[in-house]
Amino acid sequence: MRILVTGGAGFIGSCFVRMALGGQAPFPVSSVTVLDALTYAGNRANLAPVAGDGRLEFVHGDIRDAARVATLLPGHDAVVHFAAESHVDRSIAGAGEFVGTNVVGTQTLLDAALRARTPVFLHVSTDEVYGSVAEGSWTEEEPLRPTSPYSASKAGSDLLALAYHSTHGLDVRVSRCSNNYGPYQFPEKVIPLFTTSLLDGGTVPLYGDGLNVRDWLHVEDHCRALFAILRDGRAGRVYNVGGGQELSNRQLTRRLLDACGAEWSSVRAVPDRKGHDLRYSVDSGRIRAELGWAPRHRFEDGLDATVAWYRENRSWWEPLTRPQSLAPG
Ligand SMILES: NC(=O)c1ccc[n+]([C@@H]2O[C@H](COP(=O)([O-])OP(=O)(O)OC[C@H]3O[C@@H](n4cnc5c(N)ncnc54)[C@H](O)[C@@H]3O)[C@@H](O)[C@H]2O)c1
Repeated sequence: MRILVTGGAGFIGSCFVRMALGGQAPFPVSSVTVLDALTYAGNRANLAPVAGDGRLEFVHGDIRDAARVATLLPGHDAVVHFAAESHVDRSIAGAGEFVGTNVVGTQTLLDAALRARTPVFLHVSTDEVYGSVAEGSWTEEEPLRPTSPYSASKAGSDLLALAYHSTHGLDVRVSRCSNNYGPYQFPEKVIPLFTTSLLDGGTVPLYGDGLNVRDWLHVEDHCRALFAILRDGRAGRVYNVGGGQELSNRQLTRRLLDACGAEWSSVRAVPDRKGHDLRYSVDSGRIRAELGWAPRHRFEDGLDATVAWYRENRSWWEPLTRPQSLAPG
């Protein structure tokens, strides 16, 4: 399969590329083209383990660049679309880039895929498009009720992608996954932010009462779900992907403190995030039953391994947490 991966220098996209080229896809991979704008969240170092692989081509470009995208897409068997602005807090501070990349960028790619007759377009969406659920879990039939500018822009792109299937017959498949954790995640998201701060002997900011609940999935398990959807998924179909590992932010913080050998005194309470959704939870019954997917990483082991990775890879994250260290002199 010849795959075009947008956002392939980011956290999840780079894991997908490393796994695809590392022989972990359940189908042969003849080439991978990464299209990435290298925003603050994109990092060529995330692809270092596969940089010497002759099947990998890296293209520095923006998914909103229609001419660029139109020349790139022909010749690919599938587009796997990760590129997005992905941090909720940044979307609260300013939503413009979120609408630009997540909505307009996705529409630009969909148009190009239509013209290039790309056989499969896999749109990587998120559980956040459903909005908060107090009890139980959302199935794929649930209407979308996003609440943050991030999740609203992702819902817009998710529905646009599905509309290109309904209207034009494009083979669009959509995944809606819960929170990912693992190595190479930019240290603004909670797990790498807390881990790197604690490893440096610093404090960590806990939002509000810390009772917001998220479901956690190892990034490799997410990528395995995407491989399964690429191979056996159906056109126009949505697949929820969840880890079944729900934790409140307080519980998560406790585990990270333990893993880093720190005490609760390292936690500082900060005012809650505006519009902070209480709980996300997706029902993954469809992908388990139809595609035989199940997570392989046990959360406790995956989290310990992730903390160990940050402990052993300071050279990856220190330039990101201390940009001034890059300055000359
Ligand atoms: N992180 C999670 O827990 C999670 C969970 C479910 C779904 N998702 C979705 O998965 C996808 C990837 O998430 P992530 O955590 O890896 O994000 P990330 O922020 O780590 O990476 C995003 C990548 O997209 C690139 N990018 C941004 N704007 C671009 C543009 N205009 N053109 C080209 N490239 C651009 C960035 O340079 C970066 O490499 C996103 O679509 C996100 O909504 C993430």
